[in-house]
Amino acid sequence: MKALVLSGGAGTRLRPITHTYAKQLVPVANRPVLFYGLEAIAEAGITEVGVVVGGNGDEIRAAVGDGSRFGVRVTYLPQERPLGLAHAVLVARDFLGEEPFVMYLGDNFLVGGITGLVEGFAASRSDAHVLLTRVGDPSAFGVAELDGRGAVVRLEEKPERPRSDLALVGVYLFGPAVHRAVRAVRPSHRGELEITDAIQWLIDNGHDVRSTTVSGYWKDTGNVDDMLEVNRTVLESLTPGVAGEVDEASELVGRVRIERGARVSGSRIVGPAVIGSGTWIRDSYVGPFTSVAEDCRITTSEIEFSIVLRDSRLSGVRRVHSSLIGRSVTLTAAPRPPDAHRFVLGDHSEVQIPT
Ligand code: TTP
Repeated sequence: MKALVLSGGAGTRLRPITHTYAKQLVPVANRPVLFYGLEAIAEAGITEVGVVVGGNGDEIRAAVGDGSRFGVRVTYLPQERPLGLAHAVLVARDFLGEEPFVMYLGDNFLVGGITGLVEGFAASRSDAHVLLTRVGDPSAFGVAELDGRGAVVRLEEKPERPRSDLALVGVYLFGPAVHRAVRAVRPSHRGELEITDAIQWLIDNGHDVRSTTVSGYWKDTGNVDDMLEVNRTVLESLTPGVAGEVDEASELVGRVRIERGARVSGSRIVGPAVIGSGTWIRDSYVGPFTSVAEDCRITTSEIEFSIVLRDSRLSGVRRVHSSLIGRSVTLTAAPRPPDAHRFVLGDHSEVQIPT
């Protein structure tokens, strides 16, 4: 069994972060979301991993390397343009050969691992196995329709009128028949080769497509709110500990982890929260469900329910809430009147200000 991890894509929903950064590397509790998937794959006993990369491929390569730190061997598979999930399977044809494989979307987060699923699939010898979960807004997902016996009869990508509330989770298991399917499908109205169409092709051509409905936690971190929610979930089981320096004027409440080389002075940090190595927090409040990455400076500021990427500066800012702040961002209080907002924002930035 091999694994195919999809780490290309356009990432339009996470702009402007994705203009300069691979969304699969956005940290959840200060570790790239992609790493959780690679760990789940290694835990399932899979060692051969193909990683599909696009425009931000160099960063993915730098972060993941040869995979040895996860106990896997990584082969990088460049995808010229993000032409769809089924196109990524086409790109991986030679790497996959005739072996069955698990396809894991690199920005997806699944609690509970995939070991049981991989073992079940290897034993079943079916042609494809999809994971489904019940969602409140199925039209935002690939949606499956099952027959009375639970077999998959129909799949639709982001349907206007969903036939069920069963959304496709971003982990799929395939046998070699999928290679014929991905060659057979044509681009959708989105211009992409859809994996849902390829699976539908398997069904229509008499192949054995099964499903498991999972009840555990699953999220696609493709947009900011979902990213923040996954961060919240992971922080809830954070192992607290202080490896950095915390002065006596500071207070840590609840699950808080201060990484090595971090410095906290005159501040209150209410967990769950993680402060990355080399980051300084001075005269500030860091509230629950917040991850601050490495080498940041937070001074006389307040922040909560947020993710801050490395090298960013917050000074005199109250109060930052539910925010995703990129790398080397500077947020400061205006030094003098008028009492107005002043911005230098990249393309596709999003800002909300109190009115
Ligand atoms: P999506 O989130 O469905 O697509 P996207 O990355 O283009 O994002 P957006 O909709 O915001 O523009 O992709 C799921 C995962 O698969 C993600 O990790 C990116 C990856 N992917 C590829 O590797 N190649 C592709 O052609 C596509 C479409 C996605």
